[in-house]
Amino acid sequence: MLQSKDLEIEISTTSKGTAMQLERIGWEAQQSYISQVKSLLEERFDHPPMACVRTFGCQQNEADSEKIRGMLSQMGYGLTEETALADLILFNTCAVRENAEDRVFGNVGELKRQKEQNPHLIIGLCGCMVQQEHIAQRIKKSYPYVDLVFGTHALSSFPQLLLDKLSRNKRIFDIHDSAGEIIEGMPVRRKDGLKAWIPIMYGCNNFCTYCIVPYVRGRERSREPEAILEEIRGVVAQGYKEITLLGQNVNSYGKTLKKPLSFAGLLEKINGLEGDFRIRFMTSHPKDCTHELIDTIARCDKVCNHIHLPVQSGSSRVLAAMNRHYTREEYMELIQYARKKIPEVSFTSDILVGFPGETYEDFKETLRLVQEIEYDSLYTFIYSKREGTKAAQMEDPVPYAEKSRWLREIIEAQEEIASRRHRGLIGQTLRVLVEGPGKHPGTMTGRSEQNIIVEFPGDESAKGLFVDVKIDRAANWAVFGKAVF
Ligand code: 5AD
Ligand code: SF4
Repeated sequence: MLQSKDLEIEISTTSKGTAMQLERIGWEAQQSYISQVKSLLEERFDHPPMACVRTFGCQQNEADSEKIRGMLSQMGYGLTEETALADLILFNTCAVRENAEDRVFGNVGELKRQKEQNPHLIIGLCGCMVQQEHIAQRIKKSYPYVDLVFGTHALSSFPQLLLDKLSRNKRIFDIHDSAGEIIEGMPVRRKDGLKAWIPIMYGCNNFCTYCIVPYVRGRERSREPEAILEEIRGVVAQGYKEITLLGQNVNSYGKTLKKPLSFAGLLEKINGLEGDFRIRFMTSHPKDCTHELIDTIARCDKVCNHIHLPVQSGSSRVLAAMNRHYTREEYMELIQYARKKIPEVSFTSDILVGFPGETYEDFKETLRLVQEIEYDSLYTFIYSKREGTKAAQMEDPVPYAEKSRWLREIIEAQEEIASRRHRGLIGQTLRVLVEGPGKHPGTMTGRSEQNIIVEFPGDESAKGLFVDVKIDRAANWAVFGKAVF
C-alpha cells in the first residue's frame, strides 16, 4: 500500500531525477554505515555536529525517536532541542489527524530561512506522515530544501540513507512498504532515566474505518518475549522505575509469534522480573480485552490499576460503522467486570466526535456513556478525514462548527467528572512516582498508579522515588497533598 515505483526507494541524483535502487541491508550492516558517517563527520567538522530530533504524535513515535537519537549518538552527533543550533534537523511525523500534518508543514516552512543561511544544514522528515505517497510527492515538489525523507519501514536504514545524503549530496526519498520484519539491537537514547517506552509490537490489523495507522505502519507483528524481557531487565538495572509497553493494540500481542503467547502471559512474565518498578501499557483495544487480562492485572502487583481503553463512540451504530467489533453493551460489561475485580481501577479513553454520518443523537449516547463510566481523563478528537481510509468515502454532512460544539460539550462534562472523582480521593494516600518540579514553587509532581497527577511540597531530592502522598485538595487536572513517611 502507498507504494510508488517512482518513490519506493529513490535516490534523486540530479534535477532530472535519475533513480537508483538502494540495496536493503540488515541492521548488522548498518553498523558499518554508522562508522562511515562518523568518519565523514570527523573530516568535515572540527567540533561535534549537533542534531535536533522533534517528535510529533504518539508514544510509538517517541520510541522511534529514541532509536533515531541512539543512532545519531553512535554516528557522533551531539543532541540539542533547538533547531537553530542544529546541523541536522529531523522531524518524526504523525499522520493520525490533519492538524498534526499541518503543524509539521508549518514547522518545515520555518526552516527555509535557516537553510538559506546554512546550505550545509540537513533537513529530514520521517515517520507516519511521509509514509503516505501524496505527502512525499508534496514535499518533493514544494519543499526542495528538505534533503531526506524516509517512512516508518526505513527507520533502521537511517545510517545508510544519511551516509548517502552526506556523501553524494542528493535528495533521498525512501518510503518503501514492508512485510514487516522486526529489527532488534538498535541503540536507544532515552531522555529522563525514569520512564521507559518499550514497544512490544508494531503495526495494526484492525482497519478502523477512520484510521490511517494500518496503512502507514503495516501489519501487526510482535517482538519475541525474550527480547522484550531483556530490554526491560536492562532499563530496570539502569534505574528506570516505570515501563510502558507500547503497541497499537497490545491485547492482540503474540499472535504472530512462532510460539504464541497472550498479552496476559507477557504481563505475567514481566511482573515476575526483579526490581522496584511499575508496568503500564497502551493501547488496549476493547474487542481483544479479555477477562483473563483483567484477572492478570488484578493479580500482578507491578501492573498499574489503570486501563486506557479507547471507546471512540457510545453508539453501537457508529461503532459498527467504525469497524470497532464491539457494541456499547459489550464495552460496558468489560468496565463492570474490571471494576468488580479491581475496585480501585482507573479508566481513561479516546473519544472521536463527528464521525461521518454521526447524528446528535449518536453523540448524546457517547456523552451518556462518558457520564455513566466516569473516566479519570479523556483524549477527545474531532474526526479528521484521512485519504485512503474507508471513512473518507462516507457522507459527512455535519459542519465542523457543529462538531466543535459537541466536542466542547463532552470536554465540559469530563471536567466536571474529573473534579468529582479527584475530590473523592481526598483523605486517601496515593503512591506516586516523582517526576520533577510541580506547577507551584516548592512543589514536586508525579503520577499515581491510576495515572492521576499528584502535586506535593518537596524538592529535587524526591525525584525518581516512590512517595506516599496523603491527598487534601483537588482540582480537575490534579490532586494535591503532603508526603507521608
Ligand atoms: N480523526 C480524528 N481522530 C482520530 N484518531 C484516529 N484516527 C483519527 C481520525 N481520522 C484518534 C482515535 C485514536 C487516537 C489515537 O486518535 O481516537 O484512538
Ligand atoms: Fe487505528 Fe483502530 Fe488500529 Fe487503533 S486499532 S491504530 S484506531 S486502526
